[in-house]
Amino acid sequence: MDQLVIRGGKALSGDIRVSGAKNAALPLMAAALLSEEPLQLTNAPRLVDVRTIAKLLRFMGVEVEGDGTPNIRLCAQNLTRPEAPYDLVKTMRASVLVLGPLAARCGRARVSLPGGCAIGPRPINLHLMGLEKLGATIRLDQGYVEVQAHRLKGARIAFDFQTVTGTENLMMAGVLAEGTTILENAACEPEVEDLGRLLNAMGANVEGAGTATITIHGMPAVGGASHLIIPDRIEAGTFAIAAAITGGDLTIHECQPAHLESVIAKLEEAGVRIHSGATTLRVTGVGRPRAVNLRTHPFPGFATDMQAQMMALMTIAEGRSVITEAVFENRFMHANELLRLGADIAIAGNTAFVQGVPKLWGAPVMATDLRASASLVLAGMAAQGRTVVSRVYHLDRGYEAIERKLTTVGADIERVRA
Ligand code: UD1
Repeated sequence: MDQLVIRGGKALSGDIRVSGAKNAALPLMAAALLSEEPLQLTNAPRLVDVRTIAKLLRFMGVEVEGDGTPNIRLCAQNLTRPEAPYDLVKTMRASVLVLGPLAARCGRARVSLPGGCAIGPRPINLHLMGLEKLGATIRLDQGYVEVQAHRLKGARIAFDFQTVTGTENLMMAGVLAEGTTILENAACEPEVEDLGRLLNAMGANVEGAGTATITIHGMPAVGGASHLIIPDRIEAGTFAIAAAITGGDLTIHECQPAHLESVIAKLEEAGVRIHSGATTLRVTGVGRPRAVNLRTHPFPGFATDMQAQMMALMTIAEGRSVITEAVFENRFMHANELLRLGADIAIAGNTAFVQGVPKLWGAPVMATDLRASASLVLAGMAAQGRTVVSRVYHLDRGYEAIERKLTTVGADIERVRA
């Protein structure tokens, strides 16, 4: 298993480029299941999660070429096996994104339940509720969800709360349903909007993706399309914090600052200097940041996927920061590891109280999930001395060549085989 060895204390400076968004790429690839015609995706990130969904789609009979490169071609002309086995779903919850398109195109699907994961139970009850509203019959059998539907029928679906992959699954299901589907209290994340753009390029009729009400006028079939994947706002936000936490000066290229407004606002409140361009963000760290409070929220609020990284920054802030995690249960595993670097954090329920300290000190730490791993890399770059982050396979699921990108702008990070 690989480890990252970080020698901290180096201010980052220079230019860094953002890859395509993981959380956009996964639903876009699943959308290939809706059509017999090919889908061409560009700006795909080279990530383990992308390879996992490619593997899953191949298992079903989809032809996938170019995963591991920025250009992926998918063609689901022959769908031989509408099934997602446990072995693949357990390594990546987002595998559940095949459920909606399979139900719509094949009238049946058998998808393993994702089970618990490191950031809480994360059920899929809202995905299933929506499919039932569209007329599907759902059965649970030996850890698998079995969906049967002759042809899905459009319906009005009101989510109790916003779910990103739930919205995406039902949007895709609605595309091939008979009649109109209206999703209310839908997730507004830019990745949902990007999926809407792709579906429309395939010939679907989806209105309002990226807002809380999405209307999908179903049709019997959709075609192929070419699509440019949006930049990864979480990777961009992580780089912004890398500049801030090391007192550095980074220009982040090929990002969409409009997707990062709440992160930018919090960093500015903390005293970090930010200049936004159309597709760039220049971030300059100035001494110790000021402590700020934050609460995670669905888009456009502060993303839960940026909470761990922001906590890393707050460990060295002046003052006390109160961080509330309102989207997921148990998403503070990074706090215990940050303590090993000398941070002062107390947790009560879903709230973390972070008392800033002047310095962190290097130590061995363990990554527990994707974004927690990023927070440990950030803290390690700020810490005095040597930090060894183990279990970096979590990081490789969602950050393309992170140590190479950060090393190019002055970080001292080495990947070693333990
Ligand atoms: C997606 C993102 C993930 C991000 C999360 C929240 C992808 C591939 N992953 O995950 O990176 O952290 O959004 O922004 O896009 N819930 C239920 N029942 C359901 C569905 C969700 O109770 O049927 C709950 C979850 O447990 C959680 C909340 O709803 O508390 C939001 O989860 P959701 O938006 O569904 O997250 P994901 O789509 O899994």
